[in-house]
Amino acid sequence: MFELYLEKPGDLRMKESDPPPAPKDNEVKVKVIYGGICGSDLRVFRGSIPYATYPCRPGHEILGMVVEAGKKTPHKVGTKVVSFPNTYCGECEFCLQGKTNICKTKKSFGVTVNGLFAQEIMIDSEFVVPVPPDLAEERAILIEPFAVNVHALKRASISKGTPVAVIGCGTEGLLAIALLNHMGADITVLDIISAKMEKAKSFGKQIKAIHPADVKDQVFDVVVEAAGVKASVEQAFQLVKPGGAMISLGITGEEISYPALRITRSEITIYGTIIYTKKDFAEALALLQDHEFNVAPVLSKIVPFIKYQEAFADALTGDFAKIVLDFKEA
Ligand SMILES: NC(=O)c1ccc[n+]([C@@H]2O[C@H](COP(=O)([O-])OP(=O)(O)OC[C@H]3O[C@@H](n4cnc5c(N)ncnc54)[C@H](O)[C@@H]3O)[C@@H](O)[C@H]2O)c1
Ligand SMILES: [Zn+2]
Ligand SMILES: [Zn+2]
Repeated sequence: MFELYLEKPGDLRMKESDPPPAPKDNEVKVKVIYGGICGSDLRVFRGSIPYATYPCRPGHEILGMVVEAGKKTPHKVGTKVVSFPNTYCGECEFCLQGKTNICKTKKSFGVTVNGLFAQEIMIDSEFVVPVPPDLAEERAILIEPFAVNVHALKRASISKGTPVAVIGCGTEGLLAIALLNHMGADITVLDIISAKMEKAKSFGKQIKAIHPADVKDQVFDVVVEAAGVKASVEQAFQLVKPGGAMISLGITGEEISYPALRITRSEITIYGTIIYTKKDFAEALALLQDHEFNVAPVLSKIVPFIKYQEAFADALTGDFAKIVLDFKEA
């Protein structure tokens, strides 16, 4: 079988390897169908995650089919599954509260442990979730990045008509917009790239767009920060209405200046949000099964696995939303 691996930052290769051995009792062997390239795969590729380990097989967003199942796994051969991006221990104080997303000893596939971009993978059955056979594969591959938003948007109070700004119209921003659109929120989008805002507006003609440089005194009950750079986080603080909330979804290591006076005096709430739990995953799956739920603008293209160099190069341009590798076509 073939798999991808990063010898060191910038050095992405494909290699032929032995297929994984027979699964242990709690493991499943999964034949990978699709793999979504995520921003964190790009950061590991660039070498901008200090704690990433090399050599490393990238990838954590996969859809596949169980081809061998250990004796103690609940997943049967032939079941389609999607993966979790992290492991969790199930025993620390956070896991015991159901907050597996902030487990003290979580490990990240494709970052701190080998990832999932291979034609066949072995994985603990705890970290895969079955998907119904009738769910379109092009929707199923979006469950993982979408669950991020299902979790994030629950942090603040949003209902029909709530004015919400989404900063950053990449994959995560677009998935936030898809869900906000479904909820009937009053959406305004911001991105430094006009084409990205146009894509966001394709969810519905009622969606408004403002270039970040054109912001004057507009404020919103909820601001979803999904760009993850210093300028966007600082702008997010400014865009929150007094009494409102900012959902901090973007991830940046940059130092941000914190407007303490405004946050205190205007009673602004800042919610951190990191991935999701199995419950969010189940809700994401239910929404994706609803034909009324539009996510089509999020999937930019599906590329045969063999063209991984082209797929990563395109993803690195920042001009696309989700690019998916097709592992059936190596
Ligand atoms: N919290 C979580 O659980 C979680 C999960 C996944 C991703 N993330 C983070 O969310 C962020 C978005 O992820 P993505 O995959 O959509 O990334 P992406 O690169 O596809 O999208 C980022 C978008 O932000 C835009 N942008 C850049 N600077 C901007 C600015 N100053 N103002 C407005 N827009 C700007 C870019 O043009 C781009 O469209 C990243 O920081 C990522 O690390 C967080
Ligand atoms: Zn991801
Ligand atoms: Zn734990």
